Amino acid sequence: RGNGQLLKCFRRILTPSQRRVGTSAEACQPLTVHQDAGKSFLTLQEESLERAERSVLISCPSKTSEKKILKFLSKYGTINNCFFYDSYGSYAVVEFASRDGISSLHGAASLPNIQHEASVPFKSRLLTLKSNGVDLSDGPTSLKLQPQTSLSVNELIQRLAKEESIDQQLHSLTSTLELTNENIALRFLVCSLLKDVAGAFFPECTIRLFGSSVNGFGKLGCDLDLFLDLDTVSGRSIKRPSGLAVEYQTKRVASERTVTQSVLSVVGEGLEQFAPGCVGVQKILNARCPLVRFSHQPSGFQCDLTANNRVAMKSSELLWLLSRLDERVRCLVFMVRCWARAHGLTSSIPGAWITNFSLSTLVVFFLQTRSPPILPTLEQLRELASPADKCVIEGNDCTMVSDLSKIQLKPNTEPMETLLQEFFEFYSTFAFNRMSINIRKGMHQHKPEAAPLHIQNPFEAGHNVSKNVNTTQLERLVALCRESAWLLAHGGGTIPPGTVGAAGAKAVPWGIAALLMPSVAEAAGVKGRKKKKREPASERIKNLLQSLNKPARK
Ligand code: CTP
Ligand code: MG
Repeated sequence: RGNGQLLKCFRRILTPSQRRVGTSAEACQPLTVHQDAGKSFLTLQEESLERAERSVLISCPSKTSEKKILKFLSKYGTINNCFFYDSYGSYAVVEFASRDGISSLHGAASLPNIQHEASVPFKSRLLTLKSNGVDLSDGPTSLKLQPQTSLSVNELIQRLAKEESIDQQLHSLTSTLELTNENIALRFLVCSLLKDVAGAFFPECTIRLFGSSVNGFGKLGCDLDLFLDLDTVSGRSIKRPSGLAVEYQTKRVASERTVTQSVLSVVGEGLEQFAPGCVGVQKILNARCPLVRFSHQPSGFQCDLTANNRVAMKSSELLWLLSRLDERVRCLVFMVRCWARAHGLTSSIPGAWITNFSLSTLVVFFLQTRSPPILPTLEQLRELASPADKCVIEGNDCTMVSDLSKIQLKPNTEPMETLLQEFFEFYSTFAFNRMSINIRKGMHQHKPEAAPLHIQNPFEAGHNVSKNVNTTQLERLVALCRESAWLLAHGGGTIPPGTVGAAGAKAVPWGIAALLMPSVAEAAGVKGRKKKKREPASERIKNLLQSLNKPARK
């Protein structure tokens, strides 16, 4: 799972009898499995967005039969796909075969008549299904809800402890945490709902997803990074003709940054005032990269809307491309991100913590330095690019190959267990005080500036993506790397006897499960830590000593 996710967005839930509810023969066709092999990042995104534009999000009464809802909705058009989920109430994501389905549904929908309040008459694709006294329940059948959140760390540790090898644990961790096809579809749908608001001001704009929603490393519950693209507004690149010509009259402002700030300000205002479901809108316009932050309540997504941020889009494409070259890449990145979160090295609150993006870069750099390398450098990807791949953004050369089949690497068969252990060793001894990490060249270089952690932005030379990280956080990262490397070297691969197959019994955390438990060194070193946190640490020492006394079983 994973690589085909962008396209295999919806699970077909219709049973053969339900399929007949469609208004055309098309509804009876089985779901086509889309082949994404050979498709570029942009093509896959555009296809997913196009499906989202044919979709609606409907709040449904809780005791409802799927069959009755689908029968009702298919009066308006053929339904290609549909799934249900729960987010403080039940919701359906319904994809029509064409946009006509939405027009016809909109034609039949009424605006709410609320007493003592008034409603803003903005017609969106977020709708409510009202039962108006009609019985929508259907005996014992209730909605089959698709989960949109993942396991807690403790539940994950228990699950991993039951696996039989570190390789299996890494695969299990990845498949447990990764975005589901339904969650990706919901992400694209929210993106397209927001575009309807921004499109009221700039009809030709596009809103794209970037960051972990699309870079192959997204975890259920991760934020939604959105980018309002005004470069799609036509007329920017039209060459000025000689002789008589017309030109748009526009407001003139001081800089591109001012344009970004005013566009985001007005779109943020639109979201707050008119868009149903968007709450807690904060305009953070003075940041290096201005943004509007808000919650989209019906999906539960925390959204960051930026503009004029095409470089970040390119780095998402780079990570996506690298994530597809070798399955070990995703497993290691998921593990390192999960490990960092479990130890409080990352946080959802901005601060001096390392970010998931920086952690992914650390994994990429480490894999570039293996012999033979598991990942190519960005320079190699640029050399393989075709003329159509050429891309320069604000003076930065962001060119890289889009055709994955052109990337040929020498075989490297190192097991993931070895790679994980060596990753932790690599960074526990890395000369962070002098060196900078550069995935463009796949080489460390002398730091150009005195930041504790220096990771060059792959597309903006001279920009440090981990500028926010302070010395304390870097020291914690290094200490935890050292401890995890030690744990893996001294019995990490050991399965304590009786761990596997003990039905119903609590398995003893071992392998990567042990790495996700609170740190022994930190628990011993930090005074005043709560008792609750000390207990698992002492448990862990006991388990660790136990496993060290037993012979390794591989
Ligand atoms: N980004 C960047 N420089 C940074 C931070 C972020 O270029 N210092 C870009 C990267 O393309 C990153 C995207 O912005 O993928 C979104 O940032 P963020 O949400 O912090 O990272 P994600 O990769 O989305 O990870 P997650 O949200 O899961 O933490
Ligand atoms: Mg993100």
